[in-house]
Amino acid sequence: MIGIKMIKIAPSILAADFTKLGEDIKSVENADYLHFDVMDGMFVPNISFGIPVLLSVRKITKMVLDVHLMIDTPARYIKNFIDAGADILTLHFEADKPEHIKVTIDEIKKLGVKAGLSIKPGTDAKVIMPYINLLDLVLVMTVEPGFGGQKFMPESLNRALDIREYITQNNLNVDIEMDGGINLDNVGEVISAGVNVIVAGSAIFGAKDKTAAIKQFLNRMTP
Ligand code: DX5
Ligand code: ZN
Repeated sequence: MIGIKMIKIAPSILAADFTKLGEDIKSVENADYLHFDVMDGMFVPNISFGIPVLLSVRKITKMVLDVHLMIDTPARYIKNFIDAGADILTLHFEADKPEHIKVTIDEIKKLGVKAGLSIKPGTDAKVIMPYINLLDLVLVMTVEPGFGGQKFMPESLNRALDIREYITQNNLNVDIEMDGGINLDNVGEVISAGVNVIVAGSAIFGAKDKTAAIKQFLNRMTP
C-alpha cells in the first residue's frame, strides 16, 4: 500500500515466562520493538507489571521499549515510566478526560519520548483525529485490553483503515499499531488495513523457537 511506513514487529512480554524473562527477551531481539503491557487493576480487570520491571528490562536490552499503559489517569506516572526507560509511551483515550489527554501527550513529547494514543474495541476511530497531529503512534486494540491470548476481533480492521486514510490524506507521519490476538493466519489482513506495527504475545512467546516465530512473521509481512 502506498504511503505505508516500514512494518515492525513488537513481541508482548505479557506472554513471556517471567521466571526467565531475560532469556525470553534475548530470544526476541530480532524483532523491532519490545511491547510492555502495564495494567493497574482499575482501567482493566488485571494487574501485570510496572516501573521496577521496566527498569530491569531496560538494563538488559537495547530494543525499543514500547510501553502500553492500561492505567487510569496515566498523567500521574508518565515521568516515572520515561525515567525507567520507555521509548514509546501509549495511553488510552478512555483512561482520562479528553482535556487531560492532550496535556499528557504534550508532556510525553516534552520529555523527549514518542507518544501514542490507544482505543479499545468499542471506541470510534474518530476520537483519535483531534489528537493525531500530536502523535507518533495510534494503537488500535483488537481485543478488550486486560489479558493476552484472546481472540482477534476482525471488526477492528475498519478502524485502522479509517485512521490510515486520514493519515495519508493529511500527509502525517504516524504509525498505526494493532494489538490483540494477532497470529500468522491473520497478520496479512492486519497489514492490508494499513497497520505497520504488529503486537504479538502468545503467537511469539508461546512458540518453542521464538526467534524463528519472529522470522515467520517477518516473512508473512513482506509485501
Ligand atoms: C492485552 C495486551 C496485549 C496482549 C497481546 O491487553 O495489550 O499486548 O499481550 O497478547 P496476544 O497476542 O496473546 O493477544
Ligand atoms: Zn498491549
